[in-house]
Amino acid sequence: MRVAITGGAGYVGSALVPYLIDLGHEVTVLDLFLYGENVFNGLRQPGRLACVKGDIRNPADLAKAFKGAEAVIHLACISNDPSFELDPHLGKSINYDAFAKILAAVRGCGARRFIYASSSSVYGVQDVPNVREDTPCLPLTDYSKFKLLCEQDLQAADLGGCERVVIRPATVCGYAPRMRLDLTVNILSIHALVRKLITVHGGGQLRPNINIRDMIEAYRILLEAPADKVAGQTFNAGYENHSVADIAEMVRAEVRDPAVQIKVEPTVDNRSYHINSDRIANLLGFRARHTIRDAVRSICDAYAGGLMPDPMGDRRYYNIKTMQAVGLR
Ligand SMILES: NC(=O)c1ccc[n+]([C@@H]2O[C@H](COP(=O)([O-])OP(=O)(O)OC[C@H]3O[C@@H](n4cnc5c(N)ncnc54)[C@H](O)[C@@H]3O)[C@@H](O)[C@H]2O)c1
Repeated sequence: MRVAITGGAGYVGSALVPYLIDLGHEVTVLDLFLYGENVFNGLRQPGRLACVKGDIRNPADLAKAFKGAEAVIHLACISNDPSFELDPHLGKSINYDAFAKILAAVRGCGARRFIYASSSSVYGVQDVPNVREDTPCLPLTDYSKFKLLCEQDLQAADLGGCERVVIRPATVCGYAPRMRLDLTVNILSIHALVRKLITVHGGGQLRPNINIRDMIEAYRILLEAPADKVAGQTFNAGYENHSVADIAEMVRAEVRDPAVQIKVEPTVDNRSYHINSDRIANLLGFRARHTIRDAVRSICDAYAGGLMPDPMGDRRYYNIKTMQAVGLR
């Protein structure tokens, strides 16, 4: 299949693109390459990848990247609350205003399927023990509110014959060529490795996670599944719902360094949530197979192998530091 991926040079994309190429798909990435240009250096079949360095806010860039695409996966985003809040006008222009242009470009290119990366943060904090896809959403931040608004616009849009599907992933963890060290498991892991100290704020809050290996498999399934199983659907995608304190213990166990200490500090952020991913398992047969401990191990291996030479100092691992530095308007 010919697949166009916006934001394909980001954390998830940098693992997804080589995966799809290895499976025989042809991929075009549309990305500003904010976090580096060399994420695809190790590709085994570089001829199957085309890169468009451009902006999703620019219809000409969208038309170029989507030309001939049979499916579009939309990942590009200012992808966490602090980076969004750094410049809410910019954040809205990318995370929401561009969405209508993307939908117009999808319709224009004749793609058969459009996959939208939303987020499980659209649920906000819920009292129910199992947050399912039909649980009413209560997004708490602008980042999450615009994720939900895009979902609603997508379901209401006229896309011709194009099938649409929404995925609401948990927090992703594990090593990828464009690494993010601002996500829960990844932060705790790198702090254990470099500082020998894991600081846990609160600790009792439940945080749903998904290993990046499972995340990219979920996208593959959404891409390849029969239309009647995915068209118009919304799926949660998570695996392990652990407390932050448990995650810290797992990290310490997997880092295998007796010097690592865990320090607990009070927090005002007691957000706790538990997402249920039965639906994607029952309808599409997706089951997460890679654990949080596997993710921690992948980070340990990458660090030991010199793949993250300056993990605390290199701003590319931290979305907010990069956004502060690049001066995007
Ligand atoms: N990583 C997670 O834990 C997680 C969890 C839930 C949902 N998501 C969603 O999955 C998607 C991918 O997340 P990620 O962690 O890979 O994010 P990321 O920040 O690593 O990647 C986003 C990519 O989008 C690109 N980009 C930003 N603005 C752009 C623009 N105007 N034009 C073109 N490209 C632009 C960036 O250069 C970057 O490569 C996002 O939509 C995110 O909200 C991620």
